[in-house]
Formats: sequence, C-alpha cells, structure tokens
Amino acid sequence: MEDKRTTCDKPNLPLIGDRAPEFKAVTTNGVINFPEDYKGKWVIFFSHPADFTPVCSTEFMTFASMADEFKELNTELIGLSVDSLHSHIAWLRDLEKKSWNGIENLNIKFPLIADISTEVSQKYGMLHAGSKTSTVRAVFVIDPEGIVRTILYYPASTGRNMDEIKRIVVALQKADEESIATPANWKPGCDVIVPPPATAEEAKDRMSWDDKDINRLEWYLTFKKDKE
Ligand code: BEZ
Repeated sequence: MEDKRTTCDKPNLPLIGDRAPEFKAVTTNGVINFPEDYKGKWVIFFSHPADFTPVCSTEFMTFASMADEFKELNTELIGLSVDSLHSHIAWLRDLEKKSWNGIENLNIKFPLIADISTEVSQKYGMLHAGSKTSTVRAVFVIDPEGIVRTILYYPASTGRNMDEIKRIVVALQKADEESIATPANWKPGCDVIVPPPATAEEAKDRMSWDDKDINRLEWYLTFKKDKE
C-alpha cells in the first residue's frame, strides 16, 4: 500500500531508552502529572481504540483482574483513548458488572486518560494511519527513572497478551537487578543468560568456568540457574 503521508504526518514517538514525554491529563481518577506522580514506580502506559468495543472490553477486564499482580511488581497501569471522560466512566462502570473468563466482581482502580485533544496520544505515537479519531493498541513500559524500556503495538483485531506484558516487566526488573538477560520464552524459574564476554581474554576465561549452576553451550551463549 502506498504511504501518502508526509514526514510531518508520520507519528512521532519516544523510542526505547528515551525519556518518556511529560504530560498532564484528565483521567477517571482525576488529573495526573506524568511522570512526577509515578516517581519510583514502573508504569505500563497503554492506549486502546475506543470505549464500548469488544476486544478493548476484554483487555480492560483482564488488566483490571491482574492489578494486584502488577502492584506486587511496583507497577502501575495507565490507560488512554480519545474518548470523553463520561464515556470512560460509563464504560468502566459497565465492565465492573460483567463476568467473563473467570473474571468477576471487578473494581477498576487504574486511571483511564480522556485524551480528546489527542495531545498525549500524539506525544506517544499512538495515532497511526493518519487517524485522529482512534488510538492503536500501544503499550509503553516505563521504568522508575521515567525511561521507555519497551514499546509494543498490536492491531485493532488482536487483543493483547497481558501475561506477556507482565513477563516483560518481570524480565526487565530481573535484568536490572542481576545484570543478566533472559532467553526466548523465558519464564521465572528458567535459566537466565550470562551476558557475553567483552574481550577475547574473558571469552577464554569463560571456557574454563566449572560451576554446577552454569550451563555453557559456547563462550557467547552461557546460561545460569535462576536465583528466583
Ligand atoms: C475492539 O475493541 O473490538 C475493536 C476496536 C476497534 C476496532 C476493531 C475492534
């Protein structure tokens, strides 16, 4: 498909490693100032296309049902769409009465931004394909220093995998705390990766490591047991 947009029309978005753009926004929990109000916390900042739509409804119910799991990870959720505050309030009140997939008695406590002006959506590149009327399914994982650590985009027809989003937060926190990396399909309890050596000398040294907790496939691919 030919892209008729000019460079100016293309979404502007923070990239991994960038400082998350600041904003002040009206939400279902009152006005929030980001990142000041979230200092010292991990944040999952996500947008959805529209209130009162089916896939988005399942996403909100699932995120809300996992709120305590995210709290345990010192992680706060912030949602956003370009719908009005009254639409957000009505939709969330509606969802709290619904039961689905074993989820019931919900109390949706995290804030949902009413970004009618699209000011915040534009700062985060949440409006794609020239749309000014609905945001895509974007996810930004932002660390306690206000740095963007992960960016995900999903299409409108595909609901997000909240377990994967949680897995990313767990893996990032572990990488920061233990200076390790995590392999494909890693889950807590699985072996982690020792970062590759930085010099030829270190590579040679690594080949002589003899430790029951180390599984060395090669000098550049070495696993160790997860501390948990
Ligand atoms: C949904 O949430 O179901 C949806 C929203 C926008 C476009 C398509 C689906």
